[in-house]
Amino acid sequence: MSTVPWNTKELTIGELSERSGVPASALRFYERQGLIHSRRTTGNQRRYHRTTLRVVAFIRASQNVGIPLSVIGEVLAILPEGAAPTEQFWIRASDCWREELNARIERLERMRDLFTECIGCGCLSFGQCALVNPRDQLAEKGSGPHRLTSEAPAR
Ligand code: FES
Repeated sequence: MSTVPWNTKELTIGELSERSGVPASALRFYERQGLIHSRRTTGNQRRYHRTTLRVVAFIRASQNVGIPLSVIGEVLAILPEGAAPTEQFWIRASDCWREELNARIERLERMRDLFTECIGCGCLSFGQCALVNPRDQLAEKGSGPHRLTSEAPAR
């Protein structure tokens, strides 16, 4: 049960953590990534507007379906400063997430089918295994040790 009154306009990081269930360390990380914002008190303590709770809820819901933070950040950047994600905003974003998830599921299904062919093989051949070298990308570069030369550290 939360001990923070609902009419509080600003939240400390501990209160935001308590309300959202998200660890303070994760909240600080979100802030470093520019996903949430705070103001600092004269004592240099973070204060979050209570609308940040909805932003954190949006981040967590998106993360829970596998959306990368970088993509979440791009969508949140559309929100005006200090505005909370509205129901409309969430519906639009979740439509985008659905397309992203469907594409991801299709990729995973293709990988599962390829993996099925690999089970019991163990060759890990750059020339034959589609998981090691999807769509034989190295062959498109012509002959030679492309993987070794392109990944070699600069001297
Ligand atoms: S491990 Fe042999 S084809 Fe993938």
